[in-house]
Amino acid sequence: MDETTSVEEAAVEDSPVARELDRDGFGASAAGEEVVLDVRDLRTHFTTRWGTVKAVDGVSYNVRRGETLGVVGESGSGKSVTALSLMRLVPSPPGQIVGGEVILNGRDLLKLSEKEMTKVRGGEISMILQDPMSALNPVFSVRNQVGEAIQIHQGLRGRDLWDKIVDSLRKVRIPAPAVRAKDYPHQLSGGMRQRVVGAIGISSKPAVIIADEPTTSLDVTIQAAYLRLLRQIQREEGVGIIFITHDFGIVAKMCDRVAVMYAGRVVEMADVRTIFNNPLHEYTKALITSVPKLEEKTGRLPQIEGQPPLLYNLPPGDAFAPRSPLPHTDKDLQIRPELVEVEPDHWVQLAHSSVADFHKYAHLVSYGDEYKDEIAAAKARDKS
Ligand SMILES: Nc1ncnc2c1ncn2[C@@H]1O[C@H](COP(=O)(O)OP(=O)(O)OP(=O)(O)O)[C@@H](O)[C@H]1O
Ligand SMILES: [Mg+2]
Repeated sequence: MDETTSVEEAAVEDSPVARELDRDGFGASAAGEEVVLDVRDLRTHFTTRWGTVKAVDGVSYNVRRGETLGVVGESGSGKSVTALSLMRLVPSPPGQIVGGEVILNGRDLLKLSEKEMTKVRGGEISMILQDPMSALNPVFSVRNQVGEAIQIHQGLRGRDLWDKIVDSLRKVRIPAPAVRAKDYPHQLSGGMRQRVVGAIGISSKPAVIIADEPTTSLDVTIQAAYLRLLRQIQREEGVGIIFITHDFGIVAKMCDRVAVMYAGRVVEMADVRTIFNNPLHEYTKALITSVPKLEEKTGRLPQIEGQPPLLYNLPPGDAFAPRSPLPHTDKDLQIRPELVEVEPDHWVQLAHSSVADFHKYAHLVSYGDEYKDEIAAAKARDKS
């Protein structure tokens, strides 16, 4: 086998399968109906000298088989700490998961022993890093690193282990996998290294993969290759992906549904079309209008007006109220808004100060009565 990796890669990217997968940019959706991961009212706090930081303050979202759930929100909104909590990898101290449920394949991960969790981690749920250099150890061969994951989770040895290593590499379309398995990371191109990381990620047949985009931007072509790889893995393995990003352009291309996070909570969750065409929460609207053009590569989330709140000093109620274009009173800062399903599959954190159509859905929440007068006024306005 010769070493012209770039030629091999070009052949892979140009294959009919790769082209087939790439119809809508990063490949067609493989979403199913069955919920594989259900996160309910998750709470993770950090104890700091300024007080308790409620980094994750009652997050609920779910992931279906074969779908990509995008998680968006400004820096510090709790996207990564939520992901780490699912894996039970929050540094403790200072962090602690203080409440909620993480139901994966029918059981609550928060109730497992550390020993049981070690099997689940990197097994049923795993994380793929975008930067392959920080994910691979330069002193071990590909065979070693892919093999380690398989050994831990499936206990294979000898010939069976070797076959499984080669099979995992073949699945992520590494050419001549039996030859490549003996290489060390530095002998591979960037794209091939990413595929190896992908092979490690899927070798244990996970139900869910978490992809947390690093804030530092990578080379655009490496990033595109990474997104294509994720989609390909998803289609073939039926795995659900949690895709954490700042980039709304990528959300539009990659994701089936989107969860928008603000101050440690989900404020809106819906399919990607609804999020872009019919957002109900003022924070979602602000995020979307602050993206100049979806197609532009530079569609990163610019700052929206006002400061993100300090998480150790959150009001119990609507944390977005002070930045919302809608008026607010003390009442809005005191009443904790519920995340409710206002239309099938469209969830909104229903706060009077952040949802202009609050009066249409107020009957869905217990604190609707508190806003009787405001609701009557809004309905009168609608009629005239
Ligand atoms: N070890 C820690 N100790 C104290 N606070 C922490 C710790 N780790 C995270 N936090 C706080 O938790 C909050 C949520 O952080 P998180 O990393 O989840 O944000 P994020 O949404 O992923 O942001 P980004 O988009 O910048 O990655 C932040 O306010 C952060 O300061
Ligand atoms: Mg993060």
